[in-house]
Amino acid sequence: MLRKEQNDLLTLTGPGTPGGRLFRSYWMPALLADELPENDCPPVRVKILSERLIAFRDTEGRYGLMDEFCAHRGASLWFGRNEEGGLRCAYHGWKYDVTGQCVEVPSEPENGSFCANVKLRSYPLVKVGDILWTYMGDPAKQPELPEYEFVHVPSEQTYTSKRWQECNWLQALEGGIDSSHVSFLHSGALNNDPLFKGAKGNQYNLGDLKPFFEVADIEGGLLVGARRNAEEGKYYWRITPWVLPNFTMVPPRGDHPVHGHLWVPIDDENCWVYTFDYHPVRPLTGDERQAMKDGFGVHSENIPGTYRPAANKDNDYLMDREAQRRNEHFSGVRGIAMQDASLQESMGPIVDRSKERLVPADSGIIKARQKLRKAAIALRDEGVTPPGVDTAHHRVRSAAVILPMEEGFLDSVRDAVSVKPGVPQASV
Ligand code: FES
Ligand SMILES: [Fe+2]
Repeated sequence: MLRKEQNDLLTLTGPGTPGGRLFRSYWMPALLADELPENDCPPVRVKILSERLIAFRDTEGRYGLMDEFCAHRGASLWFGRNEEGGLRCAYHGWKYDVTGQCVEVPSEPENGSFCANVKLRSYPLVKVGDILWTYMGDPAKQPELPEYEFVHVPSEQTYTSKRWQECNWLQALEGGIDSSHVSFLHSGALNNDPLFKGAKGNQYNLGDLKPFFEVADIEGGLLVGARRNAEEGKYYWRITPWVLPNFTMVPPRGDHPVHGHLWVPIDDENCWVYTFDYHPVRPLTGDERQAMKDGFGVHSENIPGTYRPAANKDNDYLMDREAQRRNEHFSGVRGIAMQDASLQESMGPIVDRSKERLVPADSGIIKARQKLRKAAIALRDEGVTPPGVDTAHHRVRSAAVILPMEEGFLDSVRDAVSVKPGVPQASV
């Protein structure tokens, strides 16, 4: 349960808010690299942390991310001409380079000093893996680039997609931390989905609907352990890491690729869900990659040319009551991503957490909120660098393991949750 002011602290991420300052301490995904596929390609509108920006790739291949609106009289630079090393406003021809610096004011007589004094707010935009990342905080505190494993394995081993989710980032993140819903909401998918089915672990998931949760602190965030009964004398543990502020990984199943998410605020009532799948030691197969593109696993099928899922709140997520009755899909909605999104969006744009009734299975969520709150306040009041900025905190993996009943999970999984290049994921 959170009072309104506590909820606001965690959910609001616009400029000047404590939550916004927290997010501006990190590199955040701004676009998929595919969205700017070549030099001088069309610019792309980007809204992130409630700021409206324009991204472009200039003639030399440099990436820029800056204020969407022209410094002259505020026209959107989305209409602009991306040419000869800069983006030219379509209204009166003012031109900007990738740093937001105005480089030409052709509508006026030559006046060098005027142009030099016009600069749009801009942020760095850097390609790491399949993502273009930006850092929107104090330039003096710009951290090292992200080191999550999925952006550092060879490109044939990794795949990233993106979808728009119509609710606040925190309720989406909380779905990534809460693994007790898997045995219910996603029960159909464990048997049917090409990127899930066949793993031994699925039987434990479906055979024990009341997991016991143990949550352990790590430097960058939390390890959320969900324990289910396995064979005599043994437990099946699924370990979900969360790294501040918005990185989560789903525990693996068999030799299927491992997946996870980054939940990025667009504004206070919408977020981007960047969804990745990778295998630490082998290329993704053609079938796996195709299944991801088709919206299986934790990916979504989007309306072509957009990042809005084809099943969305305007069509009731293509709810199929017959499939619900047949138990093919527990909720009647197809696909794990949309099963999650439909319920999270159903809570409203920003869920009122003063009315919730949390239970022990929500302990991961409770601890994550505490950590976020503490980090936002320490940053606001004392300028303390939050957890997850240090790139060493990124080198973590999810894991699924069988342990003897007497073993505590934290000590036994330290190795399994550490990134080791060339070593496969610990999975059942
Ligand atoms: S509004 Fe952009 S040049 Fe005039
Ligand atoms: Fe889910």
